[in-house]
Amino acid sequence: MKNKKVTKAIFPVAGLGTRFLPATKANPKEMLPIVDKPLIQYAVEEAIEAGITDLIFITNHSKRAIEDHFDTNFELEYHLEKTQKLDLLNQVKAIHPDKINCIYLRQAQPLGLGHAILCAKSLIGSDPFAVILADDLIDAKQGCLSQMAQVYQEIQQSIIAVEKVPLNKTNQYGIISVPENFSRIAKLNGIIEKPEANKAPSDLGVVGRYILEADILDILQNMMKQHEKSGLANKPELQLTDAISKLLTHNQNEVYGYRFEGKRFDCGSKAGYVLATLHYGLKHPEVMGELNAVLKGNILELT
Ligand code: G1P
Repeated sequence: MKNKKVTKAIFPVAGLGTRFLPATKANPKEMLPIVDKPLIQYAVEEAIEAGITDLIFITNHSKRAIEDHFDTNFELEYHLEKTQKLDLLNQVKAIHPDKINCIYLRQAQPLGLGHAILCAKSLIGSDPFAVILADDLIDAKQGCLSQMAQVYQEIQQSIIAVEKVPLNKTNQYGIISVPENFSRIAKLNGIIEKPEANKAPSDLGVVGRYILEADILDILQNMMKQHEKSGLANKPELQLTDAISKLLTHNQNEVYGYRFEGKRFDCGSKAGYVLATLHYGLKHPEVMGELNAVLKGNILELT
């Protein structure tokens, strides 16, 4: 069927966030703020800009703060109204716009990104869907997912966001194989998860934005069955990248790599997180003045 629209997005948020301990001991890593907004809210805003109406969060027992964040807080709203803090009241109310559905599913076992996505199979049905990894924060004039949704309208095939990564970091990304240099979009020949530099088919790494055809869920389900057959002990994680690789050879499926416009921060790493904070701080009206002064070396004025 042609002219399908992407209206569902999966947010896999069940990870333990061990790289940010102790901050993430009792607080989900997706709730860490960049200046004054949690990472997951940036991701949700990007999805809504792209036309997503159903937000599917794959969570676990320690992630209730995410549900609370997108729920109404009557006590807070009452207080803000009473004290006439109307700007703040509007900001708080806008976190969950009308006509947007938030759906929460539990991933009972930490079996990887592929398994997290498989958890949403019955909600996705046969529709195309987006996946957003909130760790990858992207600042762009037009949101990255909105750019991809626009391309999807034209090609009606799976699309993955990619960008050049340093060769010594290919082992941190899914790396795509493409026929030649391309400016914006290219059909994938293959994809491999976290290869060492000498095995990497290119220096183009997958960042956490995907638009996928529902066929991938059948592939993930078959992979899961294989995993189960191999016994519960020592069960490896189900990789989304492996399923995409299978999707490429499955039926008539094509998968495209898309070089987005925008600046991406790897907020899954401490350095990336601090850089993102500086970047967004320099754009934030309440923070930019002091931050600029410090960065220009006028630290004494502030202390
Ligand atoms: C995941 C994917 C990887 C992708 C990366 C983007 O890895 O498995 O293919 O390149 O996200 O952030 P993770 O960072 O969760 O280890």
